[in-house]
Amino acid sequence: MEIKAKKALVFGGTSGIGLSTVEKLSDLGAEVIAIGRSLEKVTALPSNVVFKQCDVLDRQALQALFLECGPIEILISAATGGGRAIGSFAEMDMDAYQASFAKLWGYSNVVRYGLDQLSESGAIVLVSGSPARNCNPGQIALSSVGGAVEAFVRGVAKEIKPKRINTVSPGVIDTPMVAIEGEARDAHYQKITAKNLIPRAGESEEVAQGIIFAIQNDFVTGTTIDVDGGLLLA
Ligand SMILES: NC(=O)c1ccc[n+]([C@@H]2O[C@H](COP(=O)([O-])OP(=O)(O)OC[C@H]3O[C@@H](n4cnc5c(N)ncnc54)[C@H](OP(=O)(O)O)[C@@H]3O)[C@@H](O)[C@H]2O)c1
Repeated sequence: MEIKAKKALVFGGTSGIGLSTVEKLSDLGAEVIAIGRSLEKVTALPSNVVFKQCDVLDRQALQALFLECGPIEILISAATGGGRAIGSFAEMDMDAYQASFAKLWGYSNVVRYGLDQLSESGAIVLVSGSPARNCNPGQIALSSVGGAVEAFVRGVAKEIKPKRINTVSPGVIDTPMVAIEGEARDAHYQKITAKNLIPRAGESEEVAQGIIFAIQNDFVTGTTIDVDGGLLLA
């Protein structure tokens, strides 16, 4: 797909991977609408990007948003949806585990209600994560939610053709999702990426490049594109 002059909705477009994707789409000449819940994050958006406030878990608000913003050619969600439970499954708080699936419900809401407004040649991209296929101890929630997102994409791709849907799977990426600051932040990323083939945290821009590829390449659908510094082989 030629991105220039296409209309794109980016859920979670106000921070991290979503924000970098908004910047790239805007640079490529798309008409971009970025969506998030909080107004405080809006300051970082390029001036030509429109912001809409919406929670991906609010189905009514989502349907109204798509009616207002459609028709569209590009649909992206990088919205985390909520928190993810971390820790050993034997000691898991099951409410927190269940709540971790807000990411899947947010993504599936966006796809379900966005499809009607998506052109036949349109493309959807979601963001999963490397724990889906490389689950370290303590990452059961990250892994099972990410695995569900990837299975969702493979299944939905068959039903919505010729519209396309893919997921990009990041490894460890330096974004505002991690709240640690200063030297402790550097030490955190060095420690958790030390065994990767490329031993550093990725940049959100590097993941956005994968998302742009999935939009531009009309021969790619129903698959997962890894942008992870070789984490899966570590
Ligand atoms: N960073 C990593 O290392 C990493 C690794 C693997 C996978 N991922 C995945 O990549 C995606 C993006 O992560 P990120 O690191 O870029 O996160 P981030 O910097 O925290 O950005 C998350 C974005 O999602 C929005 N959002 C969250 N919940 C929302 C909701 N319920 N409704 C609407 N918008 C919502 C946030 O805005 P508001 O809070 O204002 O709503 C923000 O714009 C996530 O799915 C994450 O699980 C990240």
